[in-house]
Amino acid sequence: MAVDGQATLQVPVVNIARLVALKSDQELNAALKNPDVPLTEIIDAIRAAATEWGFFYISNHGIAPEKIQALRSITRDFFALPKEVKNSTRRTPENHLGYFDSELTKNKTDWKEVFDYSGQHREADVPADGSYSLQPLASNVWLPEETLPGFKQTLREHYDTTEQIARRLLKVFAVALGKTPEFFDQFFYNGDEVEKGSSASMARLNYYPVAPEPGKTMGVYHHTDIVALTVLLQDDNVATLQVFHRKEQKWVFVPPIKDTFVINIGDSTQVWSNDKFVAPLHRVLATSEGDRYSIPLFYGPLFSANIEPIVVQTDEKPKYRPFNYGEFVLERAVGDYKDVGEEVQISHFRIEDEESP
Ligand code: OGA
Ligand code: NI
Repeated sequence: MAVDGQATLQVPVVNIARLVALKSDQELNAALKNPDVPLTEIIDAIRAAATEWGFFYISNHGIAPEKIQALRSITRDFFALPKEVKNSTRRTPENHLGYFDSELTKNKTDWKEVFDYSGQHREADVPADGSYSLQPLASNVWLPEETLPGFKQTLREHYDTTEQIARRLLKVFAVALGKTPEFFDQFFYNGDEVEKGSSASMARLNYYPVAPEPGKTMGVYHHTDIVALTVLLQDDNVATLQVFHRKEQKWVFVPPIKDTFVINIGDSTQVWSNDKFVAPLHRVLATSEGDRYSIPLFYGPLFSANIEPIVVQTDEKPKYRPFNYGEFVLERAVGDYKDVGEEVQISHFRIEDEESP
């Protein structure tokens, strides 16, 4: 497959300043319903990007550069800690949050280390009261504060701000797909006590060390993200992220652009939209050029949510069978640890044409 480095095939940048300027979700909901408010440009740009690429950059996202610098710097500090210190937060089959250094994607080992964490609702003091049956992500695992001062607070703040961006973008997706801005709210954690344990969103620190033989491995093998959407802070220097452009059948670089985040659509949104929005294959090449760090927020629905096509026009058929999100995540998570044969993919739920009457 050819790799396209030409200026003609580039992931678009969407300026979301007008979205960020709205002070609350209520204001945003109202603005998205009001045709006189100039969000139309953003809606149209996001619809176009989501349809063609499933990838776009956002600029003017409102997160201060100093905050981002602090986050980058503490991320480097964490991965520079001795292995045994990192391992003190190591994730286990019972608790999928924490440090890990050998994730299997498509049953191959990625050339990277990760630290996974979630929001306030995932702290260890959250009572496991049995009000939910699926708890694949369990609790946040932190280092003692004195080991890396500010780590928890910096990460938590980043989680909260990017989650807000994700929530707002999903409102735009809803409107771009012909639904109300509140439409997807029902599938997401909104602070409701009972749903605390069912929230699937998670953030990750990725560290891709220099690879001595980059041709023989990958930072992350090709995959789609299973969530609704991902808000990714890329490395400012090392350009190894690629997205597969379906129409052109080409891998295209998604180079770092200063002061932007990269958004990509996940499987859940692809299913909800009945394939109108694409969850694109993407991958990270290994490189000998330098270490790379990236920080995605995976914005996912509740484990209890049943996912099925909901944006189906009158002349269309649903292209997927309904499936429970928690069960899907759980099956995937098992595959992160050992080779369980073919990893479960969204295509598993696809209704083949020949099955239709
Ligand atoms: C991921 C991923 C991209 C990157 O973690 O799922 O696709 O640039 N990361 O690190
Ligand atoms: Ni990904």
